[in-house]
Amino acid sequence: MSKKPATPAAPPCTLFLFGANGDLVKRLLMPALYNLSRDGLLDKDLRIVGVDHNAVSAEAFAERLHAFMAERDKGAEGAPANLDEKLWASLAKRLDYQTGDFLDAATYEAIAKRIDKTSHGNAIFYLATSPRFFPEVAKRLGEAGLLDESGGGFRRVVIEKPFGHDLASAEALNACLLNVMGERQIYRIDHFLGKETVQNILVSRFSNGLFESFWNNHYIDHVQITAAETVGVETRGAFYDSTGAMRDMVPNHLFQLLAMVAMEPPAAFAADAVRGEKAKVIGAIRPWSTKMALKNSVRGQYVAGTLDGKNVPGYRQETKVEPDSQTETFVAMKIMIDNWRWAGVPFYLRTGKRMSVRDTEIAICFKPAPYAQFRESALQRPKPNYLKIQIQPNEGMWFDLQAKRPGPELVMENVELGFAYKDFFKMTPATGYETLIYDCLTGDQTLFQRADNIENGWRAVQPFLDAWARGGEVHDYEAGQDGPQAGGELLARDKREWHRLG
Ligand code: BG6
Repeated sequence: MSKKPATPAAPPCTLFLFGANGDLVKRLLMPALYNLSRDGLLDKDLRIVGVDHNAVSAEAFAERLHAFMAERDKGAEGAPANLDEKLWASLAKRLDYQTGDFLDAATYEAIAKRIDKTSHGNAIFYLATSPRFFPEVAKRLGEAGLLDESGGGFRRVVIEKPFGHDLASAEALNACLLNVMGERQIYRIDHFLGKETVQNILVSRFSNGLFESFWNNHYIDHVQITAAETVGVETRGAFYDSTGAMRDMVPNHLFQLLAMVAMEPPAAFAADAVRGEKAKVIGAIRPWSTKMALKNSVRGQYVAGTLDGKNVPGYRQETKVEPDSQTETFVAMKIMIDNWRWAGVPFYLRTGKRMSVRDTEIAICFKPAPYAQFRESALQRPKPNYLKIQIQPNEGMWFDLQAKRPGPELVMENVELGFAYKDFFKMTPATGYETLIYDCLTGDQTLFQRADNIENGWRAVQPFLDAWARGGEVHDYEAGQDGPQAGGELLARDKREWHRLG
C-alpha cells in the first residue's frame, strides 16, 4: 500500500530482470525503480541485473535506459517531468547486465555467481519476458538451485501477465511453478493492483462504516465495470491478435476490480486473508452454460473511424494483425455472483480499444426510491443514483444525487458529490509498479495474485471462450464509438443502460 515518508528502505537484494531489453523494463520498471530511489526506498546494496540474449555491455544497457528516461515525450508512463541526472547516476551505479540464453544452463550458472554477497543472498527473478519463457525459466532456476532459501536469503519470482491463455494452461503453469518453489515465493503481477485508486476501494469500503450498510443486494441494483481505452493495439498486433480483449483484460484486471468491490471484509489486512476473500468471490461467479454465455456477452472489433479529430485505421489494418482476423477488441458481458451479498445483482463488464474516451471506472447503480414521491409535480421519474469510482484518468469517487433546481417550480437535476484525488493529495508521477516492486522486496504478497485467484478467474471466463470457439458474431464498431450497438442492447434487455463515460 502507499508509502508514508517514514517508510523504511526495502532490504538489500539482487534484482534480475529477465527480458531486460524489452518494453516493460524501459517503460515501467526502470521509471518505477527511479521513483523508489528518489523516495529513499531502495537499500544502498540493491543491485539490478538485466538478463537477455543480446550481447550488450552493462554501460550500453544503462545508456539505453537513460536515453529512454530522458526523452520523456516518448511517454515513459509515470516518468518524472525532468530527469534528475544526479539521481539517475546513482541508480545507474546499481545496474549491471548478464548476456544469456534463457534456455541455456550456463546463463543460470552465471547468475548464481552474481548473487551479490552484500545482498545477503537475497534475489528476485523478475520474468518480464514473453510468456512462453515463464515455465522454462522457472524450471531452470529450480534446477540451478537458485530458488533454494536454505542459505538464509530470500528467493522470489515475479511473473508478468498473461498468466496462461485459458484455464488448462493457467493450471499447468501454476503446477510447473509450484514444482520448483513454494507459493510464498511466487509474485504474480496484475499491475492494476499497483494503482492507488484500486487499493483505495478496500480502504473506502472497510474504513468508512457508511458504505457497508448499503453495500448489498438490498440497495444495489447492479454494478458496471468499464475499462475503456482510446489507444489501438499500437506495436502489439501479433500478441493482441492471438489474445483478444477478453483474455487481455477480463480474468485479470477487470476481475481484480470486481473482487475489490464485491469481496467480503477480510479477517485481517494480511496477504492470505485478503487473497482468500478474493478467491472466494471470484469463485462464486456463476458458470454459464454455452447458450447463456453467448446470450450474456457481446464481442466487437473496431473498424476505421475518427478519434480526437484524427482518422485512425481499423483493427484489421493494424501491423501484424491478420486481414480477416476475428479477434475481439471489445467485450461486454453480464455475470452473476452466487453468494448471499450479491444474489440477483448483475455485474456488467466492458472493455475495449479505440473507444471515445479513456476511462476505467466502476459505476454502482442503486435501487430507485421506493415510490414516486413527487408524482403530483411536473417531475420526470428520477434518474438512478450512481456511485462512480474512477480508477483513471481522473482518480476519485463521485455520487450522483437528485437535487432541486432553485426556483419556484419543483424541478430535479442531477448533481455530484465528489472526491478527486488531485484536490486532496499531492500526486507524484508514478507507474503503479513502485508499490509492487517495494512489496516484493519486503515480502508482502497482498497485492499479488495467488494460484487460486488466477484459476478461479479463468474458470469464470472459460464458458465464454468455449462458446465463442463454437460460434457467435463479432460486431463492428467504428473507432471513436463506445463499442457496437449490441453492447448497449445487453443492458437494454434488462431495462438498464451503460453509465456515461468520461
Ligand atoms: C495491459 C493490457 O495489461 O493493460 C493492455 O495488456 C492494456 O492491452 C493495459 O492497454 C491497460 O492498462 P492501463 O494501466 O494503461 O489502464
